[in-house]
Amino acid sequence: MIASEFVLGLVLRLFLQAHVSAGGFGLFSSDKVGYVGFRFASYIDDYMVLQREPAGAVIWGYGTPRATVTVTLCRDQEPIMKKGTRVKGKTDSNTWTVVLDPMKPGGPYEVMAQQTLGRINFTLRVHDVLFGDVWLCSGQSNMKMTVSQVFNATGELLNTAAYQSVRILSVSSTQAQQELEDLAKVDLRWSKPTSRESNVNFNRDLYNCTFPLLIDDWRQTFHDGSQGQTERLFPFGFVQLSSYLSGEALHDGLPQIRWHQTADFGYVPNQRMPNTFMAAAVDLCDRNSPFGSIHPRDKQTVAYRLHLGARALAYGEKLIFQGPLPQKIELLADTGLLNLTYSQPIKVQRRDDKIFEVSCCSDHQCKWLPAPMDTFSTQTLALNITSCHDTPAALRYAWTPWPCEYKQCPLYHLTSTLPAPPFIAPITNPSPGYHSRTAK
Ligand SMILES: *[C@@H]1O[C@H](CO)[C@@H](O)[C@H](O)[C@H]1NC(C)=O
Ligand SMILES: *[C@@H]1O[C@H](CO)[C@@H](O)[C@H](O)[C@H]1NC(C)=O
Ligand SMILES: *[C@@H]1O[C@H](CO)[C@@H](O)[C@H](O)[C@H]1NC(C)=O
Repeated sequence: MIASEFVLGLVLRLFLQAHVSAGGFGLFSSDKVGYVGFRFASYIDDYMVLQREPAGAVIWGYGTPRATVTVTLCRDQEPIMKKGTRVKGKTDSNTWTVVLDPMKPGGPYEVMAQQTLGRINFTLRVHDVLFGDVWLCSGQSNMKMTVSQVFNATGELLNTAAYQSVRILSVSSTQAQQELEDLAKVDLRWSKPTSRESNVNFNRDLYNCTFPLLIDDWRQTFHDGSQGQTERLFPFGFVQLSSYLSGEALHDGLPQIRWHQTADFGYVPNQRMPNTFMAAAVDLCDRNSPFGSIHPRDKQTVAYRLHLGARALAYGEKLIFQGPLPQKIELLADTGLLNLTYSQPIKVQRRDDKIFEVSCCSDHQCKWLPAPMDTFSTQTLALNITSCHDTPAALRYAWTPWPCEYKQCPLYHLTSTLPAPPFIAPITNPSPGYHSRTAK
């Protein structure tokens, strides 16, 4: 997928509460800041990636109220595009904004901004700017893990030299009482990948259950904040929670959070979460992680699975990016079997007697009983539910904080090593034969 032209900007660790404030731009070199406060927004800098077509890249900054600002895009010293605007008045925080015409991926370009007020001109420049796709990566403590904390860190860092058109900006997390206009602080300015990296501490925080709302909010904010240039439903990828040795406390909580991450569908995209993609990580546990089992070190497999989703959703490639889920759950009359039909070919890597559970309901109560895996074929799997002497009402899979050991879950897609994601589903329309049998 990554053609030589392919350019990728990663904006790392941008937290919701981190936005822009006017102060603290000591980190920007003097040709980025004029003395009348004429400057680019914090993250417009050398080596940056601007969003490519079909969007128009938004360039903005601060200046002297009512001055004119001309932004020029140059390639090999030749101006190829000019956009003019005016700095807004004091009440509008002295900002200026232009939207460039959509550009094909590639570069490098130079972006020049000139402020003219009366006879005084100021010029700012940023160089080695590429057009490409800007992906924003954010999260909690797992996102804050550094490359040196993951498996094969040395090898990964050595490989970075090969990816000069991937540019990274790392934003500091800041807390603010109100929404800020610009980023308060940048940890690492736009840079080409190097074998060094900044070291950031990680801390644990609680997971937010209102995940679809967070996605809605980010989409709305980015759409509005970019004058409509960021698609309203831009592609949004996320990682489903991995395994965690949590003890009893989170026994049901962790599977519930995984489920809520998909708006209780089990898969994405779905009608509540359009244009989203997910990497399942339920089988990527790391019992011995020095950072605690909630911080597994195999980030490469997570990234691989996530990138498949990005290729499918954002780049329209026809490929499978999530593991098998049952399309149909059928109670087979009189056999004590539950027959699952999957939407894709399955690989049964291992039989497991406990990972499927059936909710077995009498008049007064339901309890979860193990449903051992029985026979299977390319797209079907039978579960033995003879232990349920009452009505089987629901089925769930991998519904524990730690459903299997590393890459050892029982079910995967036939060829892609994508694990079957956890699910919970009602068992509907039991066949009459079964009812008559259980009625006794
Ligand atoms: C300032 O910029 C304008 C527009 O680019 C140009 O016409 C003018 O000559 C410049 N003035 C000075 C003093 O450089
Ligand atoms: C399960 O259903 C599929 C199709 O619905 C069928 O081909 C398969 O034979 C069934 N398996 C069993 C064990 O009945
Ligand atoms: C289901 O499991 C029970 C208990 O292990 C066993 O006796 C029975 O033969 C199994 N049924 C099928 C259809 O495999």
